[in-house]
Amino acid sequence: MDRILVTEKIGAEGLAALKEVAEVDVRLDLTPETLLEALPQYDALIVRSQTKVTAKVLAAGTKLRVVGRAGTGVDNIDLAAANQQGILVVNAPASNSIAVAELTIGLMIGLARNIPQAHTALQNGKWERSKYGGWEVRGKTLGLVGFGRIASEVARRARALEMNIIAYDPIINAERAAQLGVTPVTLDELTSRADVISLHIPLIDATRNLFDAQRLSQMKKGSYIINCARGGVIDEEALFEALESGHLGGAALDVFAKEPPTGPIVTHPKAIVLPHLGASTEEAQALTAADVAEGIVDVLAGRSPRYA
Ligand code: NAD
Ligand code: MLT
Repeated sequence: MDRILVTEKIGAEGLAALKEVAEVDVRLDLTPETLLEALPQYDALIVRSQTKVTAKVLAAGTKLRVVGRAGTGVDNIDLAAANQQGILVVNAPASNSIAVAELTIGLMIGLARNIPQAHTALQNGKWERSKYGGWEVRGKTLGLVGFGRIASEVARRARALEMNIIAYDPIINAERAAQLGVTPVTLDELTSRADVISLHIPLIDATRNLFDAQRLSQMKKGSYIINCARGGVIDEEALFEALESGHLGGAALDVFAKEPPTGPIVTHPKAIVLPHLGASTEEAQALTAADVAEGIVDVLAGRSPRYA
């Protein structure tokens, strides 16, 4: 019987589907070293974002036929090394778009109305009504960087909030943009026009530090940035400086270059920070586990997976 190693928590529905076809070990205690020791016994490996599936890890998996990423981003997996070893990588890209889109809208309104700051102040006994005046999102320009699954769902929701929506994507789906009332623009135009920028891009060489000091300085004075994509796409030190100098009005971050983060951005009063909760809804986790399990089962049975 095939053996599957699961190194991070995934939904019960997915585990049940896997157990029908293979022996499944859920090992949430593995260190990078013990992962290397364990791997030679397994035909499949399932991870979320914490486990780094490097070339060394893949090489240790001498029987591995497939790696499953229970989620969307595959930046924690060395895809070139997997390809070279003939190991397929499957993920669940359609499972958590709504969860991330809803969180993005929540963060935008949190920034607009200072919700976390005012909440914390009141819990600390401070009734500061005049300090926490906000602004309305209606009529403001939302700039979506990346216009894939998540950004499209954000656009759908932002439209209901009566925002103007512009988007940059090197391979934009013009028909979908038109349907959602989104205007395609260049990245430079988006950067200088948006009142709120929301990032929905993968972490790849072309997007690493895309929002560096120079690009942040091109943003409108007093504008806002939201990152529910990947930490590495914003230079966190430059972002800290942009908040500190007053150039930016605020930032909301669900993801960080290093998780958990340690930099000063975490405690900046104009920052809202979350511990990578984008996909953490009951609904998204159930769908993610089901989709990744389907992919693993398909590969182990010799069929082509839906998402590879
Ligand atoms: P997607 O593949 O549907 O969309 C990504 C889009 O980015 C694509 O349309 C692509 O063309 C575009 N893109 C690529 N390079 C670009 C560039 N240089 N500039 C602008 N656009 C570029 O992916 P998605 O489902 O929308 O997810 C986007 C990212 O969100 C994922 O890669 C993942 O890293 C992140 N994510 C985070 C969470 C979370 O928990 N916070 C959850 C799911 C996904
Ligand atoms: C993803 O890319 O799907 C996210 O990082 C969510 C997750 O891993 O939980």
